[in-house]
Amino acid sequence: MSLNKLLILVIVAAVSALLIGGAAFSGEKPSYVGAVKCKPCHNTTKSGKQYSIWAGNPHAKAYETLLSDHSQKVAKEMDIADPAKSETCLKCHVTAYSAPAEQKAETYKMEEGVSCEACHGPGELYKTMKVMKNRELALENGMILPDEALCKGCHNPESPTYKEFKFAEAAEQIAHPTPTE
Ligand code: HEC
Ligand code: HEC
Ligand code: HEC
Ligand code: HEC
Repeated sequence: MSLNKLLILVIVAAVSALLIGGAAFSGEKPSYVGAVKCKPCHNTTKSGKQYSIWAGNPHAKAYETLLSDHSQKVAKEMDIADPAKSETCLKCHVTAYSAPAEQKAETYKMEEGVSCEACHGPGELYKTMKVMKNRELALENGMILPDEALCKGCHNPESPTYKEFKFAEAAEQIAHPTPTE
């Protein structure tokens, strides 16, 4: 083999390794970190106390609901023994239940029910002050500003207790705006 050919082979190998490595890197998804990581910045009066508002909403109790007698009854009719252990129920009553384990940080807790990241996306990369202060950057790093379609991922007739979902009213019920000065 000539030196030139060898050189070309080496370059091709190096570029392929870079491409494959790069693809694997960009394919990695940010992790779910839990509402506890949003709390320090989003529970101040200035921020609008989003954490406390969420904690007082039914979403924060969505996992607990699966431990209730009502849930037992609903589950029994569907031949499910334990709703709090069944993916059929957990996929809507818990944040990102079906996401792979490596996308769940140690601070992720199923017990938080439907928490911030169920609507705003996994927070690992956007939760720093520098990123949060720049909406465009936050969106690039996985932050979601949810719309009706996102809600209907759970608020749909697949829910065994489905109630008609009226987006405007429902959004008003869970509103947690940043106060304007
Ligand atoms: C280090 C502090 C900090 C942490 C931690 C943090 N945020 Fe924020 N976040 C902010 C600040 C400050 C703003 C307001 C940015 C602005 O308007 O300038 C903000 C804005 C937002 C917005 C509105 C963005 C927009 O453009 O309207 C959402 C949604 C949000 N945060 C969600 C979250 C979630 C969910 C978490 C946890 C995963 C989180 N934040 C963690 C500081 C933080
Ligand atoms: C990951 C699934 C999921 C998503 C996404 C979701 N919800 Fe829910 N939501 C639930 C569950 C589960 C409950 C019932 C909680 C309970 O009572 O235990 C609920 C309850 C509610 C309630 C209380 C009234 C009721 O019908 O019981 C309102 C209001 C609501 N959601 C609004 C919204 C809005 C608005 C959005 C989108 C911005 C949204 N939800 C997105 C799962 C979800
Ligand atoms: C497609 C998403 C989805 C699935 C799957 C789901 N739920 Fe729900 N669940 C919801 C939503 C959204 C609500 C809020 C009210 C509504 O629209 O049903 C809710 C509310 C409830 C409530 C409270 C109803 C009330 O008003 O008292 C119970 C209990 C419940 N779910 C049990 C279960 C059980 C048990 C399972 C599994 C067999 C299950 N859910 C599966 C989305 C879902
Ligand atoms: C059920 C879905 C849902 C959950 C759970 C949720 N949010 Fe939101 N959030 C919304 C919606 C809908 C908006 C309004 C989006 C818009 O205006 O485009 C919003 C807006 C915001 C804003 C911007 C407020 C403003 O005035 O601009 C912040 C900050 C925020 N959420 C933080 C949080 C934090 C922190 C948590 C958890 C403690 C949380 N949210 C939980 C749906 C949710």
